[in-house]
Amino acid sequence: HKRIGILTSGGDCAGLNAAIRGVVRCANQQGWEVLGICQATNGLMADPPNAIPLTVANVDPILTRGGTILGTTNKGNPFAFKFPDGTVGDRSQDIINGYYKLGLDVLIGIGGDGSLAILHRLAKQGKFNFIGIPKTIDNDVGITERSIGFDTAVTIATEALDRLHFTAASHNRVIILEVMGRDAGHIALNAGIAGGADVILIPEINYKLENICNAIQERQKRGQHYTLVIVSEAVCTEAGENMTKMEQFGQCRFGGIGQYLSDKIGEATGAESRVTVLGHVQRGGISSPHDRLLASAFGVAAVEAIAREEYDVMVTWQNREVITVPISEAIKTYRVVDPEGTLVKTARGLGICLGD
Ligand code: F6P
Repeated sequence: HKRIGILTSGGDCAGLNAAIRGVVRCANQQGWEVLGICQATNGLMADPPNAIPLTVANVDPILTRGGTILGTTNKGNPFAFKFPDGTVGDRSQDIINGYYKLGLDVLIGIGGDGSLAILHRLAKQGKFNFIGIPKTIDNDVGITERSIGFDTAVTIATEALDRLHFTAASHNRVIILEVMGRDAGHIALNAGIAGGADVILIPEINYKLENICNAIQERQKRGQHYTLVIVSEAVCTEAGENMTKMEQFGQCRFGGIGQYLSDKIGEATGAESRVTVLGHVQRGGISSPHDRLLASAFGVAAVEAIAREEYDVMVTWQNREVITVPISEAIKTYRVVDPEGTLVKTARGLGICLGD
């Protein structure tokens, strides 16, 4: 018999619940117990720990449901925990104590690279068993080809372009869609190709405003009086590669580039331009079939790894199958778009302007 703890950590995305369900259903077949830990590591830090038993019956309705039934947070590092009075302290031992108080045999953590690195460090320090499942709409966890949540985010961004296409064409406008992705341009590149964008701007390729304006004018010459631009949130102002986001847009968070481009393009071409910032819509809603499939496969593979007593690994999608890789390897590489890769070549082959 084993008692598995499972938590979700970092920003939410579609497909997290399908992974939780996968773990519970597969563990149930082994006759094992699963405890859902609430609000990421905060649930283990609490005294008593905040956890709920998960059964096949209560995870039944969550396959398609967005978000995470366990709650999550992307705030805070337990090694430098911010207390309400503003002081900072190390609360790692409280989390480790929580693991042992719950009598867990293993912890499954569903998270992005940051969360997985923290959980790996906690497991080493506390000498407990850990298995990671990669999730992030940004698809930047290095070693896995796919992370839970990416496909749904791309689907939503693509649908947004499909919708913007009609309104842009009706008004002869330049419409700029700003999407998430953190430091990587995967969402913009994938959705841009799938949604027929005319210009795709990603942080991995430097652009010149002039090239974007030329692309718009070329279209106009062909009688195409509207243009769809998709831009990744981490793209900088034209001269801004060495500036912070605060210096560029008066804010330290990502975002702001859509409005900047709209103003500049409007000024330079005389075109009427508008911006749509898609924001957290990309993380919400019902998960895509592909994300449900990936999440289910990851959930099952995590339990199978436990059955083999194989710990400190991350389940990983590679070459059409799920394998396990040591967590230390998995978190070493951060995957941004390869400017020489197939999708960039595809975009170029389609005549899409990448700004360079
Ligand atoms: O990492 C996922 C992500 O959605 C990024 O694409 C985005 O930059 C960030 O999280 C947004 O974070 P928050 O939910 O704190 O606004």
